[in-house]
Amino acid sequence: MDAEITPTPNGPLHAERIKLLKNDRGETILATDESVYLCRCGASKNKPYCDGSHTAAGFSGQRLRAADGKAVEFAGREITVVDDFSLCAHAGACVEGAAKTFFTKGPGGRVSHPDASSAGQVIAAIRQCPSGALLYKLQGKLVQDYADHTEIRVEKDGPLHVQRAKLNGPARPATEDHYTLCRCGASLNKPFCDGMHAKVRFQDGSGT
Ligand code: FES
Repeated sequence: MDAEITPTPNGPLHAERIKLLKNDRGETILATDESVYLCRCGASKNKPYCDGSHTAAGFSGQRLRAADGKAVEFAGREITVVDDFSLCAHAGACVEGAAKTFFTKGPGGRVSHPDASSAGQVIAAIRQCPSGALLYKLQGKLVQDYADHTEIRVEKDGPLHVQRAKLNGPARPATEDHYTLCRCGASLNKPFCDGMHAKVRFQDGSGT
C-alpha cells in the first residue's frame, strides 16, 4: 500500500500519494500524486483542505476516548460477524441493511445475530460499513479487503472515507482497506469519525 495518511499533532491530515480525492457524488475534485493537507478541525474556509485556521481555532487532535477496543466475534452458521465497536462511526448502514441481525443489547455491549438474516443480507450490510468497525469471516477467514484502488471520498457534512491507505500514528483502524476520519473536529475518538458531526450539525459549506 503506497498511500499514507498522517494525522499531524493538533493540525491537519497529511495525505501522501492518495491520488484521488472525490466528493459525495463520486466526482473527482483532485487527482494528484503530490501530498495534500486535509482539514480535520472543521474551521478551514477552504475545506476539504487545511488553510491554517486550526491554530486560531485552538484545535486539539487529542483522542479523548480510550484507545482501540477489541473486536468481538459473533459466529453464525455461515458467517461470523466481527465487531470493533470502538471504531463505529454510527453511519447506520448495518441496522438499515439487516435490522434483525444488528443489534441487541448485551451485558458486554451490542450483540449481533448473524443467523437472524440471510448471509447475503448480512454481508451486504457489513460491506456498507464505512468505518470498518464491522467486518466478517467466512469459513474462519477474515474478509476485509473490498477496494481495488486508493481514494478519499469527502462526505458532505461528514467524515473522510478513506480507501486503501496506510494510517500512521498510534490509532489503528480495523483495516487499512477502508476507514473513516473525522473532519468536523468534534470526534472524541480522533483521528476516527465517531458520528459527532451529526450531533454538532457540522456543515462544511464547501459545496463539494
Ligand atoms: S486542520 Fe488546518 S484548518 Fe482545519
